[in-house]
Amino acid sequence: MKIDLSVLNIQYKLHQQEYEAAALRVLCSGWYVLGPEVEAFENEFAAYVGCKYCVGVNSGLDALTLSINALGIGAGDEVLVPANTYIATVLAITKNGAKPVFVEPDVYYGIDADRIEAAITKKTKAIMPVHLYGQACDMDKIMNIADKYNLRVVEDCAQSHGAKYKGTMTGAFGNAGCFSFYPTKNLGAFGDAGAVVTDDEGLYKKLKMLRNYGSKKKYYNQIEGVNSRLDEMQAALLRVKLSHLDELNAERVAIANRYTTEIKNPAIQLPFVRVIENNHVYHQYVIRTKKRDEFQKYLADNGIKTVIHYPIPPHLAECYQHLGYGKGNFPIAEKYADEVLSLPMFNGMTEPEINYVIKCCNLFRVD
Ligand SMILES: Cc1ncc(COP(=O)(O)O)c(C=O)c1O
Repeated sequence: MKIDLSVLNIQYKLHQQEYEAAALRVLCSGWYVLGPEVEAFENEFAAYVGCKYCVGVNSGLDALTLSINALGIGAGDEVLVPANTYIATVLAITKNGAKPVFVEPDVYYGIDADRIEAAITKKTKAIMPVHLYGQACDMDKIMNIADKYNLRVVEDCAQSHGAKYKGTMTGAFGNAGCFSFYPTKNLGAFGDAGAVVTDDEGLYKKLKMLRNYGSKKKYYNQIEGVNSRLDEMQAALLRVKLSHLDELNAERVAIANRYTTEIKNPAIQLPFVRVIENNHVYHQYVIRTKKRDEFQKYLADNGIKTVIHYPIPPHLAECYQHLGYGKGNFPIAEKYADEVLSLPMFNGMTEPEINYVIKCCNLFRVD
């Protein structure tokens, strides 16, 4: 049997008529960028997360970068970021001229809230929790620290659409909640897209200007902005998917629950999950094993595709050599990079496929 890590067209086919009607509506409308569909999606997504405002942008990276910019964070400032995140979180900091200060992750793969205070200096301006793999970070502790030190909080929710922490949606805690709608995400578009949610009217207005060349009124450019406009087609298609997001997430959770209860292999560490309702939406189901490369090859030989999220932690990335970090600086993040592996997880995965992944995991032997 051959199983991919993720298959996207099954979801499309599941609600094909709705997607096609939305696409046709846009094609016929004659309005293709920043129009009524974008506005409707922004309103619907803000309501879903439980925030007042939403600004649609081009990508998750833009959502993060523009949020840091709009908060006035730049040269001379430090931003705390988990050492095991995807490179985009760190790029959002460095592209604004600020310095990333890495903090080790906890066992749930989020920023370790107990290590945050030790990393704070006079220059620290913000914390960027990343709800990695779909599980909410320890938001009570993080928000308490942010309050105590008067720090901004920019949540990276690129992998956590619909994940909650004690009943509140990820994205609704910080000054800004930044989402990616890259096609593989739980709420994925059919191309690149992203959004920022916020309760702060000033931030909202600034982000709206920044995404559109820094102008409120066409051709009157008040601040240096970028072109990060969301197009009508993606917004219309996202509206369809958003209306099904809770069902799609529930399906992922059901697949994850089967993995968790049925994979029984002492060589495989299953994900640790905080005992809080709805806090994990399983963007990825990530296991750890000391024999990771052997396990990945074994699964590949048996037709199962897996991916490593992520093989190189940002402090060791080639592009950040100038920051002066080396191997051993963040041993927990480095250990995760050596041991993590994401198992197949996608909407529309069949029972035989799930059974087969479980069976192969259970038959893996290390000498
Ligand atoms: C944790 C995290 N942050 C940010 C991003 C950036 O999103 P995008 O690819 O839409 O720019 C991604 C997605 O790839 C991500 O996984």
